[in-house]
Amino acid sequence: MSIHIGAQAGDVADTVLMPGDPLRAQFIAENYLENAVQYNKVRGMYGFTGTYRGQRVSVQGSGMGIPSISIYAHELINEFGVKKLIRVGSCGSMQKDVHIRDMVFGMAASHDSGINDRRFPAMTYAPTADFELLEKAVAAARSRDYTFHVGNILSTDTFYNDDLELWKQWAAFGVLAVEMEGAALYTLAAKFGVQALTILTVSDHLLSQEQTSSEERQKTFTQMMEVALEAAVS
Ligand code: HPA
Repeated sequence: MSIHIGAQAGDVADTVLMPGDPLRAQFIAENYLENAVQYNKVRGMYGFTGTYRGQRVSVQGSGMGIPSISIYAHELINEFGVKKLIRVGSCGSMQKDVHIRDMVFGMAASHDSGINDRRFPAMTYAPTADFELLEKAVAAARSRDYTFHVGNILSTDTFYNDDLELWKQWAAFGVLAVEMEGAALYTLAAKFGVQALTILTVSDHLLSQEQTSSEERQKTFTQMMEVALEAAVS
């Protein structure tokens, strides 16, 4: 048992998918995994372990934002021996050619979080995806003809910003999309010598203000899950 995950050693697979929403974790367990068993209910941050194509895979809600995912990633790696962590989430596009419903793979994750600034005083660390997982996700998306983009994402601490124009500076330097967790996941994976990847679907567009309907989100979610599970078990 760890502080935030009420499971026993061995209850969690080596590979964990991490949606932000714990109810998404339940949905993934019920619809994509076989023989899924719930191992965590603490704080409603559900976690399940089942199998996908005969291989053990877990799915653990991360909550929203860098502090929350940092707690779960830290405990999964250090208390349960997890070796591969794949975040599956949504993002807001900052680029006109990154469309709503497209997939984005975070090759790197810029951030505006104070956590890494305190870790690396007067230095800048570049949180980076695991290349092997990224290659597998790209291959899975390409073979299915899914539309995807690979590049720099922004992990922000603030969903509601005081300065509504601030994102444009990131966009001007090629950042594809904004979300709230990837940079922490990459930093902790690097610190503890494990593999991590962030796979996102574009749910809203900062330029056009477009948003996806819940039906559309379900369809693109299905594509993202196929890619994430392929990367997880291949
Ligand atoms: N900002 C931050 N996180 C997000 C967004 C956004 O616009 N869309 C989806 N996750």
